Order: sequence, then C-alpha cells, then structure tokens
Amino acid sequence: MKISLRVKLTISFLAVIIICGSVATLVGMRLIGTGIINQAQDKVRTDLNSARHIYQDEIQEIKVLLRLSAQRFFIKDALYSMLDGNRESGNDIETLKRELEKIRKRESLDMLTLTDENGQVIVRARNPSVYGDNQAHDEFVSQVLLGKEVIAGTEIVPMEELIKEGTELAEQAYIKFIPTPRAKPTLKNEETSGMMIKAAAPVFGYDGGLLGVLYGGNLLNRNYEIVDEVKEIVYQGVKYKRKDIGTATIFQGDLRISTNVKTEDGSRAIGTRVSEEVYEQVLVKGMPWIDRAFVVNNWYIAAYEPIKNIKAETIGVLYVGILEEKFVDMRRRATLMFLGITVAGMIIALIVSYFLANGVLKPIKHLVIASQQLAKGNLEYDVKLKSKDEIGELGEAFNLMASSLKARDEELKEHTHQQIVKSERLATLGQLAAGVAHEINNPLGAVLMYTHLALEDLDENDVLRKNLEKAVTEASRCKDIVKGLLDFSRQTEPKAEESDINETLERTLAVVEHQALFQNVKITKVICPTLPKVLMDVSQMQQVFTNIVLNAAEAMEGKGELTVSTRMAPDNEYIEIEFTDTGCGIPPQNREKVFDPFFTTKEVGRGTGLGLAVSHGIIARHKGTIEVKSEPGKGTSFIIRLPLKRKED
Ligand SMILES: Nc1ncnc2c1ncn2[C@@H]1O[C@H](COP(=O)(O)OP(=O)(O)OP(=O)(O)O)[C@@H](O)[C@H]1O
Ligand SMILES: [Mg+2]
Repeated sequence: MKISLRVKLTISFLAVIIICGSVATLVGMRLIGTGIINQAQDKVRTDLNSARHIYQDEIQEIKVLLRLSAQRFFIKDALYSMLDGNRESGNDIETLKRELEKIRKRESLDMLTLTDENGQVIVRARNPSVYGDNQAHDEFVSQVLLGKEVIAGTEIVPMEELIKEGTELAEQAYIKFIPTPRAKPTLKNEETSGMMIKAAAPVFGYDGGLLGVLYGGNLLNRNYEIVDEVKEIVYQGVKYKRKDIGTATIFQGDLRISTNVKTEDGSRAIGTRVSEEVYEQVLVKGMPWIDRAFVVNNWYIAAYEPIKNIKAETIGVLYVGILEEKFVDMRRRATLMFLGITVAGMIIALIVSYFLANGVLKPIKHLVIASQQLAKGNLEYDVKLKSKDEIGELGEAFNLMASSLKARDEELKEHTHQQIVKSERLATLGQLAAGVAHEINNPLGAVLMYTHLALEDLDENDVLRKNLEKAVTEASRCKDIVKGLLDFSRQTEPKAEESDINETLERTLAVVEHQALFQNVKITKVICPTLPKVLMDVSQMQQVFTNIVLNAAEAMEGKGELTVSTRMAPDNEYIEIEFTDTGCGIPPQNREKVFDPFFTTKEVGRGTGLGLAVSHGIIARHKGTIEVKSEPGKGTSFIIRLPLKRKED
C-alpha cells in the first residue's frame, strides 16, 4: 500500500497531538476534580466550625442568663422565707412564680425551675402546679449542689421530666421515626425523650451559703433557631437551582430532631436518621466525619461532629452540608472548558501541521519534477530552493549533480566525436593504403624479378651492376612498405586462443635480445607469475611487442634500460603490460599522432611509421587499449590493457 509523505507527516503530528492532548486532559480533569472537591471539603470543614460556634454561643447565652437570674433578690428572699417554713402563706412565693415566668417568657426559655439547697423543686415557672419533687438526681443540679458553680451544656431529658415541665413540651419532643434507607437498623420506632441545651446556677444567701439551684433550658427537638441561624450566617440563605445550598442539622443520637434539610414535599426532614457509616464514625467512635453523603434526597459534601453532654459522652451529632450538585456542575463546566481548549488546541495544531507538511513537501515535489526533467535529458533544469536547511542543501547538490552531468556529457560527446573522426580517418587511410599496396605489389614484384634477372646476366665487374644492386635495395624497401601497408589494412580478425601473456612476452624478448641494437640495453622484467590466461592471437601479439620493444631501443639509440612488467589491473578485469624505456621521449604535440599510419620521426628510409598504427589495430581487435605516457628527455611508457576472458563468453 502506498502512503504519501503528507499522510505520514500528518499522522505523526496527529499522534503527538492526540497523545499530548489526552494526557493533558486526563491530568487536568483529575486536578480540577480533586481541586474542586478538596475546596468544597475545606469549606464544609470551616462551616462546621462556624456552626459549632453558633451552638456554643447558644449554650453560653443560657449560662449567662441563669447566672445573672440566680443573683436576683426576689429569688433569695423567696428561698429565705421557704427556710422559715411558710411557703403557703408567704407573698414571696407568688412574686417568685410571677417573676420567674416573666424571665422565662422574656428570654423565651422552654423551662425555668428553682430548687432548694437539697434539690427539691420549689417552683416550675412554666408549670407551677407540679413541684416538690427532688431533682438532685439530675446531672446539672447535682453538679451545682456539689461544686456551687454555674454549669451549662447539652442533655437528654426523659419524657417524665418533660411532662413535669408541661405536656406540650413532651409533645414537641416526641418524634416518630421515618424509615431511612441507609440508617443503622433499630427496633425503636419513636423518640419520647428530648435533647436540651441547659444551664444551672447556684443561688447564694446573703451570707454566701447555698440556698438553692436555678436551672433552665431550651428543647432542641423541632426548635429550628440554631440550624436556621447557621444557614443564614454561614450560607446567607443562598439557593442553587431552588435548593438551599447549605444545610445544618442537629441529631439526638442518630435521629434528625432539628434541621433545614427538606423532604420532597418541602417539609423539614424531622424523624429521618443518619447513615450507618456516619453512626459508626461519629456516634460510636466520637470522631468527626467529612465526605460526600446522601442526605434525604440529595448528595451533599457533608461534615459531622459529635455533640457531647457535660460528662463528655456523645449524645448527638451536629451536621453541616453543601449541596454537591453545585460542585459537580462546576467540575463539569471546568472539564468542558478544558476539553474545549484541548480540542481547539488540537485543531490549531492540525492546521499548523498541514501548512508545515506543505512547507516540507513543496521543495520535495520541486526536486521530484527536477529529477524527472533530468531523466528526460533536460540537463539545463535548475532547482531554485530558498530554504537554508537540509532540503536546500539537497537542491544545491542536485544542481551540482546536473551541472557535472552536463560537463561529463559534453566531454563524452567531444571524445566520441574525436574517436569517430579518428577511426574514420584510419579506415579511409586503410582502404587507400590497401588499394595502393595491392596495385603496387605486383608491378613491384616484376621490377624486382627483372632486376635480379638482369643482375644474373651481368658480369662481376660490370659498371651497371652497382646501379642495379641499388635498384634492388630500393625496390625491396618499397616491398617492405607495401607489406606493412597490407598488414595495416588487412585487419584480420585475431585467431583467438587461450595463451599465457608472460610466455609470449618472454619469447619476443628472446628473439630481439641478441640483436646488435640491444647490446647496451639492460632489460628488466617485473613479471606477475599468477596471471590468468588471455584469449589472443599469439603471433599478432608478438608483432605488437616486437614493434614496441624495437621503438624503445631506437629511442634509446641502443643504450639505456627497458623495463617490462605485467600485472593485474586494480579492477581485476584487465591485464596490464607496460614497457618503459629511458629514451628521448615524445614531445607533447606528437603524442596524439604516434598511432597514425606513416607518422614517423625517423629519417627517410629508416622507418615507415606503420609499426604503432598496426599495433593499435591489433590491440583494438582484441578489445583492449594501448596508451602512451612520455616525458621528453626522460623516457616513454606504453601500457597495453587486455580484457580477461569473461565467464559468460
Ligand atoms: N619508445 C619511443 N620513444 C620515443 N619515440 C617513439 C617511441 N616509440 C615510437 N616513437 C615515435 O613514434 C613514431 C612512430 O612509430 P612507429 O613504430 O609507428 O613508426 P617507426 O618506428 O617510425 O617506423 P616503423 O616502425 O614503421 O619502422 C616514431 O617515429 C617515433 O618518433
Ligand atoms: Mg617502429
């Protein structure tokens, strides 16, 4: 399958973007999520502190009220008259009843009761008809009798005691349980006792002795003063989607006795109970609990802490909660925003990557077109890439390649042209030579024959004899020339046989060595013994070698050194044979011409100028090359290269 570079680039970009984007989104969403929830929990924790303060203030208020009221003279006076034993007759009792009830009403207390120094009830302001019972068993009363100090706190008050203060108080306290799904199972289905915040203060006589105890308090059951105050002060009554954002509750044990959590019908959720989880943590272990909680019918970020009585036993729970929905919505909005930003980022990155890919691909396209032009042979095509990067370098390299191709092309054309001209010239010359030689050969033979015949007839001392002998010499020379011409023009295909080049060379040298011309020539052989055999015509090759060796000896004028070496060419495809002499050398202007027929520098009658021309022809027909290197005054080298037999041949 062919996938374009553009697609690959875009996919790579996309992969990077998607990976980065999803990691960022995941991490971001997590951070936002936990951040918001943590923030909500911190808030609910401080809200619970505020709620506790409000609750404590309420207790404190009653405490102060009881302490101040216990110092009123009408109370002392009444108690003194009681000590004198005239309860029924004394005016003081009536004043006491009236004044106490006044205080109770003014301070809106649910009960206000006075006992004597033994704890026996003297007056119940709310329900004066019931008196005379002993309250020394009451925790508050007994502690004041003992410690003679004001005391305040929360207490569970049983129904019998509530009834003494007034049946309507017992009715207010009575709560029927409403089944709550996750509450701790219980056999109880109603609550008859009530939870009160209460204070008790000692009444001292003028001598400082304890005369009695004044105690009073407020029932918390169905009393919404504290919870609504918390709602107003802490949450300022803010609503979210028509629901109170913040709620507060007071539990008696695990029972909701005062709350502003609403049920579906909008009434306060009195009678429902706390979940078992919270029960264990707060009521059993006495520890605070902060988490999300399902309260009645909504999720809240909730905080619970125990309410303790004056003996530090857990008797109830104080709760505040913030509607979770708001934070969930907040989290959702933040997440959506985050996702939106990420997606927008991805789209922008995609667009950028598209243009980047274009930027990268455009010069490559350009290069492709240029290459196609080059392949078609248009070497003039110039790539213009402005970029200063690797692609720019590629463009430059491309232009360089094109221009060097062009240069080589021209060189090759020129060379081929020269070769053609040369071989045409040689061919024409060859034809001409062959024609001339053929025509001259027979008459020349006749001239020689008749001259010989004439010489035979002449006397030894005849004067003509000298002239005729000269004619024979000159005619023989002509015959030699004609033979050379015929050799040159014959162009016979070599009779190819597998032969050892070293052996052929040795044989040639052995023939020439003994000639006078070589007497003062030192022949050095540098032979490679492992050369493979070559397909060649031995006698033609001998002719070539002889000619080159003779030329060398002539150039050295019979004195010098001739080095003959054979070797394998570096590319292992040719055998090289090199002849180097220390002769006169060839001037540069003649170097091109030495292979031309009839080119000679030798004096007339000494050389025909055909030796190298014939040799060139023979080597060419062997598919080899012959090359000359020379330094005038120092010497000359002829290098012959013969191809090795190819396996497929
Ligand atoms: N080794 C050499 N050193 C210097 N010049 C050389 C050498 N070999 C050849 N030449 C030059 O090349 C010319 C041509 O050589 P070539 O063998 O073709 O002809 P020739 O030797 O002159 O005559 P021929 O070989 O026909 O008798 C020579 O005349 C000579 O000038
Ligand atoms: Mg020669």
